[in-house]
Amino acid sequence: MHVLVTGGAGFIGSHAALRLLDEGHRVTVVDNLVRGHREAATALERLAPDRFRFVECDLLDTDRLAAAAQGCDLAMHFAALAYVGESVDEPLRYYRNNVGGTISLLDALTRASVRRLVFSSTCATYGEPSEEYIPISENCPQHPVNAYGRSKLMCEAVIRDWSLARTRASAPVAFAFLRYFNVAGSDATGRVGEDHRPETHLIPICLEVALGQRPSLTVFGEDWPTPDSTCIRDYVHVEDLISAHVLVAQRLDPDRAEGREFVFNVGTGRGASVREVLDSCRRVTGHAIPAIVGQRRAGDPPRLVGSPEKIRRELGWSAKHVTLDTMVASAWAWRQAHPKGW
Ligand code: UFG
Repeated sequence: MHVLVTGGAGFIGSHAALRLLDEGHRVTVVDNLVRGHREAATALERLAPDRFRFVECDLLDTDRLAAAAQGCDLAMHFAALAYVGESVDEPLRYYRNNVGGTISLLDALTRASVRRLVFSSTCATYGEPSEEYIPISENCPQHPVNAYGRSKLMCEAVIRDWSLARTRASAPVAFAFLRYFNVAGSDATGRVGEDHRPETHLIPICLEVALGQRPSLTVFGEDWPTPDSTCIRDYVHVEDLISAHVLVAQRLDPDRAEGREFVFNVGTGRGASVREVLDSCRRVTGHAIPAIVGQRRAGDPPRLVGSPEKIRRELGWSAKHVTLDTMVASAWAWRQAHPKGW
């Protein structure tokens, strides 16, 4: 199979590209390097120079994208801006990049006759579900509370409409929406890793404190209605997340009605609080990781935990890395080998 991986120089996309190469596929990575890293693409290229191609290209450049997509059998669409706080301050940038980029990609896929798509969606499309909806299943009402979540929900709508139109044009497509919870960890053998600039994610920040690159972690609020009064999230190992992509890709079949549309949450069903993550980072790194308690961060829901029932039932997926310590250990190994990131 030849797979087009948008955002393949970023954290999750590079892990997907790596898995596909490991499984013997051909991979074309498209990335504008705004949030991705050239070094990640270079590392991937070194692994399989004859089966890997990197195209530095913005998704809004439909012509180049269509040329890059020629000959691909499937697209995995990771490329997006993905900071909740930034999306509130720069909504137009988020809509242009995430929604505009997806529209351009669909146009390019149509032109290149690529009929299978796996789309990176997010639990942020659910907004702040009330307790009755937790753990969150796929039919939980989607009421995003920030521009990032809304941009991804809009992408879902655009992809559905594209699919309807392609069916009407007798050239049906197949798509999957994977709604991620909190993705963590990195490749067990340390070939790619997690490096966001700026860094806002809990585990990488704890590791930067452990490395002495920051003085302390600020816990965003210790007054939440949760058992230890800090926010709860559902952390899923990036390798398990990529397994979900591989499994769902095998099910996409535009030529059969039942193979055309899939929607799955990708979470473990287990929640961990900020304090529990911090404790895990302390255990794994052996560093004290000083923490201070700060204000709540705008837009943070108290508890987001996904139900893995549907993906378990329909795809046979389950998380292999279930402890926080395993996720933190793989992230820590990569960061120790790359203290400054890529
Ligand atoms: N947190 C802190 N201090 C920090 C950073 C984070 O206390 O310095 C807390 C947050 O308040 C939150 C938890 O740690 O309770 C996790 O925060 P992250 O920033 O690591 O992750 P988010 O849950 O905010 O974001 C994740 C994805 C987003 C996605 C979002 C959906 O990273 O891409 O879930 O809500 F949009």
